[in-house]
Amino acid sequence: MRLPLESVPLGNHLGFLALAAYVATLTPTIMRIVFPSIKSHGVVRWLLKERRAVGILAFALAVGHTYFVIRKRNFDFFDFNTYRASAEGLSTLIIFAILTATSNDWSIKRLKKNWKRLHMLTYAAMFLLTWHVINKMAGQWTLVTPIATVSITVITVLFLVRKGTEFQKEISRVRAGSH
Ligand code: HEM
Repeated sequence: MRLPLESVPLGNHLGFLALAAYVATLTPTIMRIVFPSIKSHGVVRWLLKERRAVGILAFALAVGHTYFVIRKRNFDFFDFNTYRASAEGLSTLIIFAILTATSNDWSIKRLKKNWKRLHMLTYAAMFLLTWHVINKMAGQWTLVTPIATVSITVITVLFLVRKGTEFQKEISRVRAGSH
């Protein structure tokens, strides 16, 4: 008897693992603000410390995923429609590449304030990936699709909650200052 997981192609497994590693890089900062009580938790602290390495791992897995899906789908590199159909995946891959190339002390020193601005691109990847999974897997879900969809949606919602919390704090701070 074949296990259902065996029917998930290797390329999809790699895409799923890339997504999981990427979500892990976003978790600590989002959790620290949305659920401040768990910020001292060992896993959150470990993820915060190893965020760079986990991000680079996400990029490597995404490259593997891209390689296998390109092979599976016989991509025509000379057809513009290929790039149009893969726009969200390719944009995410470019973002991952930029973040990986600048995830080092030298780039932090050289880019100064711009480094933080550049790394805000990670949040654009979050929305692009939600679109990617929904768009590519509609009507052909594998065993990992629901987990991928739930993970990316939950982290996106928590990110929006974080932004709301920060906005409210800012408003209270400004109000307190004006009294
Ligand atoms: C850069 C980061 C990327 C991540 C994290 C990612 C992640 C994923 C995930 C999680 C799935 C769903 C797998 C499943 O539910 O079984 C998927 C599917 C897919 N991705 Fe990506 N992807 C990325 C980039 C790309 C790129 C650059 C391309 C194309 C050039 C691409 C093409 C596809 C295709 C064609 C599918 C559908 C696979 C199928 O037909 O079975 N992805 N991706």
